[in-house]
Amino acid sequence: MRDRQERLLGRELERFEREHPRSRELATRARLSLLAGVPMHWMVRWPGGFPVFASEAHGARFRDVDGLEYVDFCLGDTGAMTGHSPEPVVRAIGDRAARGITLMLPSEEALWVAEELTGRFGLPRWQFALTATDANRFAIRLARLITGRPKVLVFNWCYHGTVDESFATLRDGQVVQREGNLGPPVALEATTRVVEWNDVDALERELAHGDVACVLTEPALTNIGIVHPEPGFHDALRGLTARTGTLLIVDETHTLCAGPGGYTAAHGLRPDLLTVGKAIGSGIASAAYGFSEEVADRVEAAIDRDDSDVGGVGGTLAANVLSLAAVRATFEHVLTEDAFARMIELAERFERGVQNAIDERSLPWHVTRLGCRVEYLFRRERPVNGSEAASGGNELLDRLIHLYALNRGILLTPFHNMALMSPATTDADVDVHTAVFGEAVRELSSSTGRS
Ligand SMILES: Cc1ncc(COP(=O)(O)O)c(C=O)c1O
Repeated sequence: MRDRQERLLGRELERFEREHPRSRELATRARLSLLAGVPMHWMVRWPGGFPVFASEAHGARFRDVDGLEYVDFCLGDTGAMTGHSPEPVVRAIGDRAARGITLMLPSEEALWVAEELTGRFGLPRWQFALTATDANRFAIRLARLITGRPKVLVFNWCYHGTVDESFATLRDGQVVQREGNLGPPVALEATTRVVEWNDVDALERELAHGDVACVLTEPALTNIGIVHPEPGFHDALRGLTARTGTLLIVDETHTLCAGPGGYTAAHGLRPDLLTVGKAIGSGIASAAYGFSEEVADRVEAAIDRDDSDVGGVGGTLAANVLSLAAVRATFEHVLTEDAFARMIELAERFERGVQNAIDERSLPWHVTRLGCRVEYLFRRERPVNGSEAASGGNELLDRLIHLYALNRGILLTPFHNMALMSPATTDADVDVHTAVFGEAVRELSSSTGRS
């Protein structure tokens, strides 16, 4: 029952408050100097009423200012999928930082990284940015430039960072802005078409307008739970975009979890542009966007050399040498083929642990996995699109499970029940989660599914 969940939440909130006096002290002080008392506004949503203040992190673990240790399955929402501060990257950053950080000149590192990106993802030419959001923004701008079309098509309940065009959703078949979209520059129906994931007919209908510059999509949705493509969906997407002269941008920022070349390499996708960020620099700000040969030629032909510094695609610090050194070390030593094999095994172990607990109590929940990323959703059926996945959201249960885990030394990714494995994660770390999840389920199971 809901009552029982609320009682458990009350108990967990008390425990959290009791065990985190130093974090609470800092949170109180933070209200004087930080907007809403946090350095980034969404941190107000951590489930304990105030966030845990971290003191240090190594590998798959971190310690907070109250001296408590946690297994980190959030891993900076993918930014630390490498594990925290991997040694070869720390060494490369230290070495590079002592020899110049940003110059407005190219470095040999840029070539190494671009060649590596080509080897991993298959696209032959690259540019750099500092965030995946920027990589997406720049890819969209260039798509508009070379197609001369105004609109972007996204899938319902997507997330691609703070990209204005992507905060659109469908309500009764109409494109409207998502709830909570702050200060939109223009009405989103002017910039965006929205289609449900896996809906080929709707995709065909919307692309037929001929005004869509690009489809921006993850190869599997990961930000509303994991929603996999149905068989044939990617073929249809590639076929329809090609037939209508629409560019296909694949955002691999999260789906890099599928392997060294992301979902694109693992499943033989052929996007026109590809964006990736977050984990590629082990947490040092870095992102990249790549072009097919044909798109690269069109972009080069369309940009006037004299205007290229004020064209809306840039970033003074982008492609800085420190960022590229971090990416190089990450690819060379950390996110290797062997590391992915191990990370995926760990995710399978995590998935089995959750599935067993669900089965034991016949809970109306499910668990799903993409590479080294695992997610559980509070609905029985696997969603085929974002709307179905969103309908499995349960604010109270989410908050309770996150806090229950946090109080027992486990950090899950906020806003959904996602866990990520790093090269530093161990079987024992996964088993800690399995035990705690089983405990939570036992305490909850008399009420779950009937709330
Ligand atoms: C798929 C995807 N693309 C892009 C981004 C934006 O990344 P950043 O916030 O680092 O710019 C995110 C962030 O969660 C994401 O999930």
